[in-house]
Amino acid sequence: MGSEFAGRAPGRSQAGPHPLGGSADVAVGRGADRIAVIGAGLMGHGIAQVFALAGHAVRVHDVAADALASLRERVARNLRELGQDAAAAARVQPCADLAEAVRDADVVFEAGPENLAWKQELFARLEALAPAHATLASNTSVIPITDIMATVSSGARALGTHWWNPPYLVPLVEVIKTPRTDAAVAQAMFELLARVGKTPAMVEKDVPGFIGNRLQHALWREAIALVAAGVCDARTVDTVVKASFGRRLPVLGPLENADLVGTDLTLAIHRTVLPAIDATPGPSPYLEQLVAQGRLGMKSGEGFRTWTADEQAALRARVQAHLKAMNAADAAA
Ligand SMILES: NC(=O)c1ccc[n+]([C@@H]2O[C@H](COP(=O)([O-])OP(=O)(O)OC[C@H]3O[C@@H](n4cnc5c(N)ncnc54)[C@H](O)[C@@H]3O)[C@@H](O)[C@H]2O)c1
Repeated sequence: MGSEFAGRAPGRSQAGPHPLGGSADVAVGRGADRIAVIGAGLMGHGIAQVFALAGHAVRVHDVAADALASLRERVARNLRELGQDAAAAARVQPCADLAEAVRDADVVFEAGPENLAWKQELFARLEALAPAHATLASNTSVIPITDIMATVSSGARALGTHWWNPPYLVPLVEVIKTPRTDAAVAQAMFELLARVGKTPAMVEKDVPGFIGNRLQHALWREAIALVAAGVCDARTVDTVVKASFGRRLPVLGPLENADLVGTDLTLAIHRTVLPAIDATPGPSPYLEQLVAQGRLGMKSGEGFRTWTADEQAALRARVQAHLKAMNAADAAA
């Protein structure tokens, strides 16, 4: 075992009864501090960064040698850009061997390809390779966790943790229970995430898209429908969102807003507008057509709109600066 990995997170008790009672052997309840991450890509390196910055030793496994070779530098660069302790990157240990990465782990986060069969096979292997007490978590974007964990016999310790990109800047992590997940395991994961500075949200039922992506894609469906129907162009949809309710969203969620204006007014609005809102059960034909035409968005230079390289870079920089400013405002509040 490497010395970095042997280290304990500061201020953690090593053993003791589970804080919620019940599953006393649940690792996260004992102060899980040995983290393993499978996949060193966009999400995996960011998840590793969050735990390393919070003092945890993190082992990261990937099959791509270049992803492992660049891992620490990517984490250190992010930390430097955020004005945080870049030395924390030393707590991130790249591991070419899966068994070594998870051998002593208390919690394993999977952040590999978005492919059900691949994830099922991985978790079947993790069940055998990780300690019996280790919590097993998938970072899938939309695949039901129940399906992913179908190959795992110890389903009580398996759940979903849906992080958002970039994991070190977007606060939310959805914690998704399957019907087999031990409630104490999910609660302990929730508390672990809160301790490392995230904003966890418990998803009690394992539904496709969980909470955040269901809400997000309900909005995208209507946005596409408005463009397809010729109500406005794509740029106008985005202007309307950003210059109206988008302004309020960071402090006023939809149901807070409904209570603010009154449930009676909300009901009256829904009676008129809901029958007109797109309810197509599948992807929009307009979207299918864009993809068929090779209009894939920024990566092809055109999607709903055309994008020069400069415009893409400027938008990415604005998003990054906005997320940093929001976190700074949160910290100051
Ligand atoms: N990108 C996002 O915004 C986002 C947000 C939330 C959730 N997710 C989900 O997180 C997961 C990872 O997404 P990402 O964007 O980081 O993808 P990514 O392509 O950047 O990273 C995936 C990594 O997995 C590695 N990999 C491939 N096969 C492997 C194997 N057999 N063993 C170990 N590693 C292997 C790849 O080399 C790559 O480094 C996906 O399930 C994705 O749906 C992504």
